[in-house]
Amino acid sequence: MTEVLGFEGVRVRRGDNEILRDVSWTVSDRDRWVVLGPNGAGKTTLMSIAAARLFPTAGRATVLGEQLGETDTRELRVRVGLSSAALADRIPPHETVRNVVMTAAHGVTGRWHEDYDGLDEDRADALLWAFGMADFAQREFGTLSEGERKRVQVARALMPDPELLLLDEPAAGLDLGGREELLGALSELAGDHRSPAIVMVTHHVEEIPVGFTHVMLLRDGQIVAAGPLAETLTAEALSRTYGMPVELTSSSGRYAARRA
Ligand SMILES: Nc1ncnc2c1ncn2[C@@H]1O[C@H](COP(=O)(O)OP(=O)(O)OP(=O)(O)O)[C@@H](O)[C@H]1O
Ligand SMILES: [Mg+2]
Repeated sequence: MTEVLGFEGVRVRRGDNEILRDVSWTVSDRDRWVVLGPNGAGKTTLMSIAAARLFPTAGRATVLGEQLGETDTRELRVRVGLSSAALADRIPPHETVRNVVMTAAHGVTGRWHEDYDGLDEDRADALLWAFGMADFAQREFGTLSEGERKRVQVARALMPDPELLLLDEPAAGLDLGGREELLGALSELAGDHRSPAIVMVTHHVEEIPVGFTHVMLLRDGQIVAAGPLAETLTAEALSRTYGMPVELTSSSGRYAARRA
């Protein structure tokens, strides 16, 4: 087992605002984490540190064995696959879907003068196929529906064969069918021993893919609970996280929650 992320007493401060407070967290290569918490809890901030795009104000964060602040983060960033709304906003709308995926091999969002070979193209096409987007390879990214875009973003995040895959709300905006298809693809990924470590942020326990192993519950920048999914995701912990009584049910590895 190799440590992929190691956070020790991580704090992020913006002015008077403490966005992350004393977060200590370890992710190993076989882990598949889901991060839950209310709006503003600090989930995206946590992902930015994990993606080596933001440094802690205090504490220590190690990403793929490299301590942030003591390493060349450009090299580190290409080893981490990230899918987030902020990154999607930077994709040129006229770029073809295949190029949107393929350019991730060079850590850029639009095609310019980089060299790609047949292997890059084959890999991009295989990933598009895996996420049900093979027929869209030549379409312009800007013409896709929200759900189609989400699937392309996950394919793109996997393109550089990352050692860590970070998905910030990958199922947001998807209809029932689209969500279930994406969760199916993520379950397959989670179950494959060749897959990288995965951390996925979501707002809904219904979106936890079968096969995910760990959960972090975050509130006001602090960890409420973190650990193996089955024993950590409880009605009591969710109630503390959301500040209201929550009822939790599970069936065949899937969860559902509502106000108690
Ligand atoms: N650059 C910044 N300057 C000031 N405050 C910030 C900055 N970035 C984030 N914040 C604040 O930090 C808090 C956490 O933000 P973050 O985006 O990490 O939350 P989140 O858990 O991802 O929320 P959501 O579920 O709405 O996506 C929010 O209150 C946000 O307003
Ligand atoms: Mg967020």
